[in-house]
Amino acid sequence: MSNNYWEDVYQSKQPDQVSWYQQQAEKTLELIRSQNLSLDAELIDVGSGASLLIDQLIEAGYKNLYVLDLSETALKTTHARLIDKGLDARHIQWQVADICTVELEAQRFDLWHDRAVFHFMVKEEQQAQYLQNVRHALKPNGVLIISTFAEDGPTQCSGLPVERYSVEKLAQRLGKGFKLIESATEIHTTPWGSEQKFLNTQWLLLQ
Ligand SMILES: C[S@@+](CC[C@H](N)C(=O)[O-])C[C@H]1O[C@@H](n2cnc3c(N)ncnc32)[C@H](O)[C@@H]1O
Repeated sequence: MSNNYWEDVYQSKQPDQVSWYQQQAEKTLELIRSQNLSLDAELIDVGSGASLLIDQLIEAGYKNLYVLDLSETALKTTHARLIDKGLDARHIQWQVADICTVELEAQRFDLWHDRAVFHFMVKEEQQAQYLQNVRHALKPNGVLIISTFAEDGPTQCSGLPVERYSVEKLAQRLGKGFKLIESATEIHTTPWGSEQKFLNTQWLLLQ
């Protein structure tokens, strides 16, 4: 998976023409809200794409948002949309980077959110790099929210192979140091009406 692959996706498709599009990221917002973090908490959304989650987080009052994706076009689309809506994007930190190799500040984040990104990492090396970054950049007792395709979800996304997870498999993949807070499955309906089963999980990074 190259940077260009995702850049091409966002250059050639409107945000609502991709299978993962959600008009409202309601479930995610609910999961984030359930952590009872202060509105000053540091939140990172990795592989954010052009998701409307950021709009909703700003509307909910969260101030310190870090938005990272491989695609510059995706982030520019989000930024332009926030400005159009009159939402305050001043405090957002934007970064075009690969989450596996980017250097993040140690113990910066209270919450790390990933919807449909980690499941593209089908190679052990990428998974290890990604998880090393999670452990490095999350504060002790920080929260990790990961949504992947469920065990009986699709085998591909955007034409790329994905790894599907049960809670047990994901727990094993994350390794020691993460405690499961909660998990649930969710059916996502694509813009063209097909259904995809996701596994939403929340974990605590133990000290
Ligand atoms: C299926 S989309 C999900 C987008 C968004 N999280 C959502 O739920 O709408 C996957 C996103 O992950 C990004 N991505 C894939 N691999 C990445 C990586 N290694 N580092 C950063 N972003 C990545 C892609 O550019 C794309 O925006």
